Amino acid sequence: MRIRSFMTGNFYIPFKQMLIGMKSIGIIGTGHIGSLLAKKLVETGVVGPQELCAANRTPEKLNKLAKESGITPCKDNIGVAKASDIIFVCVRPAEAKAVIAEIKPALTPQKLIISTVSDVKLADLKAWSGIDCVRIIPSVTSEYDRGVMVISFPDGIGDAVKESVMRLFEKFSLPYVTAEENISALSDLTSSSPAIIAAVIQEFAKAASEMSNGRIPLSDAEELIRETLSGTAVLLDKLSQRNAVQSGKTANLKTPVKSPVTSSVESPFDILIESVATKGGITAEGVVAVRETAPELYGKVLTNMQNKHKKVEQSLKN
Ligand SMILES: NC(=O)c1ccc[n+]([C@@H]2O[C@H](COP(=O)([O-])OP(=O)(O)OC[C@H]3O[C@@H](n4cnc5c(N)ncnc54)[C@H](OP(=O)(O)O)[C@@H]3O)[C@@H](O)[C@H]2O)c1
Repeated sequence: MRIRSFMTGNFYIPFKQMLIGMKSIGIIGTGHIGSLLAKKLVETGVVGPQELCAANRTPEKLNKLAKESGITPCKDNIGVAKASDIIFVCVRPAEAKAVIAEIKPALTPQKLIISTVSDVKLADLKAWSGIDCVRIIPSVTSEYDRGVMVISFPDGIGDAVKESVMRLFEKFSLPYVTAEENISALSDLTSSSPAIIAAVIQEFAKAASEMSNGRIPLSDAEELIRETLSGTAVLLDKLSQRNAVQSGKTANLKTPVKSPVTSSVESPFDILIESVATKGGITAEGVVAVRETAPELYGKVLTNMQNKHKKVEQSLKN
């Protein structure tokens, strides 16, 4: 009975405390991602601003965040670690080891580190900290309550902790749990992709503007395709929700998902493409061109990014 009322979301923090006894959250590194997480955790009521403290290498971003969100600024990283049950580490890969060494004296087995740091493995986080660590890959789209939160748990972590971690994020993202070996590929697909999608769509606008010999200004082409992209996203959402209902799953995309998400019904992408690109029509010619050339383009996009992941991992070993 109690659990059911916690599930409504109204008793979010007690639910979390009941499961893993955690009540305060700390953030180390208040750059793009640390600030985003701090704001969303407070805004969605997961934690009160007074229960969230943060530190940053230099004070400017931290002070701005504290002013905007009401969170408690902390003068150093170890202060954050002492005051917090859950410690988010949101620094660049090269800085992670030193940050964890700095906070290690304050770490106890009851605490949990959640790292957003790309390419730093769970095994290294555990070896450096001596406590349980979880990896997440957030997306900047979560600022507007959309996008995916990729999560990897270490072996042996309890289901109650997993559930509690997923529930931290479900109000502003779609939590997706995966094995750590998938995390860099899924990071490219979800966290990097807003930039990739923007670049692809911008190229579409440039090509349209150029083919009109400038009669359609690039700024107009960008604005028109942006509006179309936004409408396309809504259509794909609706088709996906319809699929979810048909296959007996909930239509609420914010419900924590099991991993992987599979569906026996037709892909929303295929339905949308079929509905616009009628057989033998003009749009179908465009779809053929995409299907002929895109595998090479996206193969290169992903290969470039995967090579960069490997370089970062290598640099961390040196
Ligand atoms: N941006 C994304 O979309 C994204 C998505 C997924 C994962 N990630 C990962 O998340 C991590 C953070 O990314 P970001 O984009 O937020 O980077 P960022 O904007 O550069 O933020 C990093 C922050 O860490 C602070 N910092 C550095 N060393 C520190 C130390 N020793 N103690 C305390 N704070 C320290 C920096 O402080 P200063 O103000 O002094 O520079 C900066 O504010 C990275 O590992 C990144 O790979 C990023």
